[in-house]
Amino acid sequence: MIAPKDDIDRIMSVMERAFPAEFGEAWNRRQVSDALLVSNCRYGLIAPDGSPNFYEDTDTAGFFMGRSVLDEEELLLFAIAPEYRRKGLGHLLLARFVSEARGHGMGRVFLEMRRGNPAGVLYAAHGFVEVGVRPSYYRCGDGTRLDAISQELVLDN
Ligand SMILES: CC(C)(COP(=O)(O)OP(=O)(O)OC[C@H]1O[C@@H](n2cnc3c(N)ncnc32)[C@H](O)[C@@H]1OP(=O)(O)O)[C@@H](O)C(=O)NCCC(=O)NCCS
Repeated sequence: MIAPKDDIDRIMSVMERAFPAEFGEAWNRRQVSDALLVSNCRYGLIAPDGSPNFYEDTDTAGFFMGRSVLDEEELLLFAIAPEYRRKGLGHLLLARFVSEARGHGMGRVFLEMRRGNPAGVLYAAHGFVEVGVRPSYYRCGDGTRLDAISQELVLDN
């Protein structure tokens, strides 16, 4: 999928303020645009009103990026900008990601998150279950280590 420059601007505007700096999870612009050059990568944007439709002056509330291989898709990045959180937009965007994955014939979606991320509550609400742990996978800014938790959702098409 080739993303228009405006959409990469939108992704980066959320990326730059959504991820806590200490965990090093945010991607830079080059990583995003290179990933989206690959045909099995896709992204989605959400506006503050929950819509996927944007006009020139619409702010961007959040985005996701996913990458599929055969019938499995990984949720690579998922974020809602801080000022738009706890309004249900995370629920809406995750439901859209999963519904599109199902529509593309995926049998399974998976993701990795650092242990303790509040996003885990959201993923559990959508039926994701823990399937593995990579001990001490993330190195925090202060040198401490956090496990990566792998989660999956099996899709019945
Ligand atoms: C995780 C994230 C996407 C949630 O977005 P959001 O728009 O606030 O999500 P919603 O408003 O739809 O809330 C969904 C549910 O998730 C849970 N949740 C979200 N943020 C939470 C927090 N800080 N603490 C506890 N639970 C939280 C709640 O159960 C919430 O439902 P509720 O508000 O009805 O209680 C957002 O906090 C974010 O972008 N975080 C930083 C980036 C990140 O860590 N992404 C995930 C990488 S794996």
